Amino acid sequence: MSHNTIAINQRMDKFDDHHRVWLFGYGSLIFKADFPFIERRAASIRDWTRRFWQGSHDHRGTESAPGRVATLIPQADAVCAGMAYLITPEVFAHLDHREKNGYLRLATDIYFEGGGSEEGLVYIATEENAAFLGEATELAIAHQIAASSGPSGRNRDYLTDLAHALRALGMDDAHVFAIERHLSALDA
Ligand code: SIN
Repeated sequence: MSHNTIAINQRMDKFDDHHRVWLFGYGSLIFKADFPFIERRAASIRDWTRRFWQGSHDHRGTESAPGRVATLIPQADAVCAGMAYLITPEVFAHLDHREKNGYLRLATDIYFEGGGSEEGLVYIATEENAAFLGEATELAIAHQIAASSGPSGRNRDYLTDLAHALRALGMDDAHVFAIERHLSALDA
């Protein structure tokens, strides 16, 4: 169930005349920065909440057995904490390929820890994309994550690496930490 978004993202020309663009990461882009960046800063975006509702058929699962990875769901007054990277526009070719299974670039205001904000980009997989799995209990999500792996590794490592990175940054996320607790209980 692949929904390749590369071509759509390449038509996103809002920042084409910029030499540098801020990118906000809230999932694997927090703990796996496999791209060049000029600077990174802890940051957040508003009115979005992180949920493991996106299917991963290409990184943490397979076509027949998708894993679950993070996307953002609109929620008034929510704050999603993550990491902002200042990058050059050339980096988007790599990012569009990495995020191709349903994620679309969206312009958003990024609020830096310590003050200040800039408009930048975030990759979001909306419920319209073919790989979207949608809501499930955190226990059911943990079961699916425990059973899944793909070309980028075990799905459980995505979840635990994200939970560790959030904790190291002093960031709270009840949804992520609840799934982490369920995963530990399944292991016990
Ligand atoms: C992100 O991390 O910002 C997007 C979702 C992902 O690649 O895990």
